[in-house]
Amino acid sequence: MSNTKRKLNKLMKEGDQIVCVTCYDSSFSKILDKVGVDIVLVGDSLGMVIKGEDNTHSVTMNNILYHVSNVAKNKKNFILMADMPKNSYEDYKTASRNAKELLKNKVDIVKIEYRDDHRETLENLISQKVPICAHIGLLPQYVYAKKDMRIYGKNSKEFEMVFQQAKTLEKLGVEIILLECVNSDLAKKITNSVKIPVIGIGSGKNCNGQVQVLYDLIGISNNPPKFAQNFLKKSGSIEKALKDFYRYVKSIKIK
Ligand code: KIV
Repeated sequence: MSNTKRKLNKLMKEGDQIVCVTCYDSSFSKILDKVGVDIVLVGDSLGMVIKGEDNTHSVTMNNILYHVSNVAKNKKNFILMADMPKNSYEDYKTASRNAKELLKNKVDIVKIEYRDDHRETLENLISQKVPICAHIGLLPQYVYAKKDMRIYGKNSKEFEMVFQQAKTLEKLGVEIILLECVNSDLAKKITNSVKIPVIGIGSGKNCNGQVQVLYDLIGISNNPPKFAQNFLKKSGSIEKALKDFYRYVKSIKIK
């Protein structure tokens, strides 16, 4: 069993909430490691918070690898997750080459924004023992219009569709499901119906963990989403803000 799976199993067995924060450089990764966050995500949100774009679409594998190399310098205890950026997993061969490149560079688990047409690629990656976090609900890489920035699973058809996606992903062998902007009742149903960790963002509290964009937590994002909370306002220091976020997530009790 991989070290990542062992750590995740332990957290799940102890009913311990999983704390995940995005990160793009070595100074912050040092603080995040000290605070004890469970998973550090080199997310393609770097398109917005580092490159200053309106979306994640321009992020490349080289961008992700560069930020991974900086974040990984302070990797002691956290699980290192990295996004596969847009167009880096559209066919199996490309996906396999890129995922393996990330794993060679200290990444423990790769995240893909999953649509049903990725199923074959996903099955192939899993058969090659690539640990996968599947991101469902709102998929920023596939958002082209404002109307796509919404809560997913509000109507019964979409509720069932996203629920079945989560069940399928568990069956296929993904190690983590990440729900972005998923209706909170649906997030609760998914969390209670699968055995693998479910990490949420903008999906309510009834998940096995929460993820946030680092720059939203410290109030320096240009256009933070409504659900983002600035922890630096009350805490006065970055380390304390991140500790407060850590404690907040760890205190959540699933209903
Ligand atoms: O890229 C990112 O930061 C993400 C999180 C919002 C989950 O995917």
